[in-house]
Amino acid sequence: QPMVKVISSGKYAPSTLITNEDLERLVDTSDEWIVTRTGIKTRHRAVDETTSDMAYKAAMEAINRVNYDKDKIDLIIMATITGDQMTPATANFVQAKLGLNHEVMSFDINAACTGFVYALETAASLLQTGRFRAALVIGGEQLTKIVDYTDRNTCVLFGDGAGAMILEPSTHERNQAFFFNAARGDTNNTLTVVNHIKMDGKRVYLFAIDAMEQAIRKVLESSGLAIEDIDVIIPHQANERIIQSVSKSMGIPMDKFMLNLSEYGNTSAASIPITIAEYYDQNEVKNKKILLVAFGGGFTWGSAILQL
Ligand code: ACO
Repeated sequence: QPMVKVISSGKYAPSTLITNEDLERLVDTSDEWIVTRTGIKTRHRAVDETTSDMAYKAAMEAINRVNYDKDKIDLIIMATITGDQMTPATANFVQAKLGLNHEVMSFDINAACTGFVYALETAASLLQTGRFRAALVIGGEQLTKIVDYTDRNTCVLFGDGAGAMILEPSTHERNQAFFFNAARGDTNNTLTVVNHIKMDGKRVYLFAIDAMEQAIRKVLESSGLAIEDIDVIIPHQANERIIQSVSKSMGIPMDKFMLNLSEYGNTSAASIPITIAEYYDQNEVKNKKILLVAFGGGFTWGSAILQL
């Protein structure tokens, strides 16, 4: 397992909100149904911004938080399923917006809502080679551009935003990171996007609970840590009831999980890095151990433990 120094974190979400009342005007739904079934009250919507615009702003918040010399960045990995266009990679648009004109290895990862955890493991492993000085790892999505606003089963769930982290290689034992990531291709008809998001919500729901439990167990096992050693669990923010089920069946108190899905809804690959940035905003993060856990289309699932 690689060692990695976590330098900073940032986030961005567009100012336009979609409320449950807005959705009541579009489909046959109600604020009461949405809140009790999902915990979601609002989602952010990018009106005149792209995924790379949001990713750039999240990256700038991470850079500015610690006055980072951005010219040190020579690896950019962007997790997204709603990139600006097929190619160039959205990471490359971010590179251009940051004005990084030197040689940077830059590419996108598609692992749906698990994308950011996949990107972190990829970045940590590449940093371990000694070839790179600093990695910018981003999760960013403009899901509202692929949501079908006539489908009440999906349109209430998703929103837009981006989150970013800066990482450097390390040789210190204390910076040991732990990862678990996996996919099951045989279930790949359960959540798909050709033009719009289509989903078998019930199957995703059941998969999600098992997957999150397994991912939490696996990463704890590989780290030799107990749940008590972890300061906060930052889960993918899809549905509050999924997290409550995991909390109950694993005997982990709900206040160990950091939640913000009532404001953001499900922002896919952006949900974990946005929440990490909010953790930075609200806490003295030095020496804290965070456990990330995600599931998503594919199916994919994964987890990570990082020392801040
Ligand atoms: N408003 C009102 N009624 C609705 C709505 C809505 N927005 N959506 C669905 N319903 C109806 C259904 O049509 C169904 O009606 P029917 O019984 O007449 O057919 C009824 O509500 C109950 O549907 P269920 O599917 O039983 O509702 P459930 O309690 O399971 O909640 C939900 C549905 C919220 C989608 C849930 O299954 C869920 O959260 N699944 C996981 C989804 C998820 O996390 N997806 C993201 C994965 S991550 C990624 O990679 C993008």
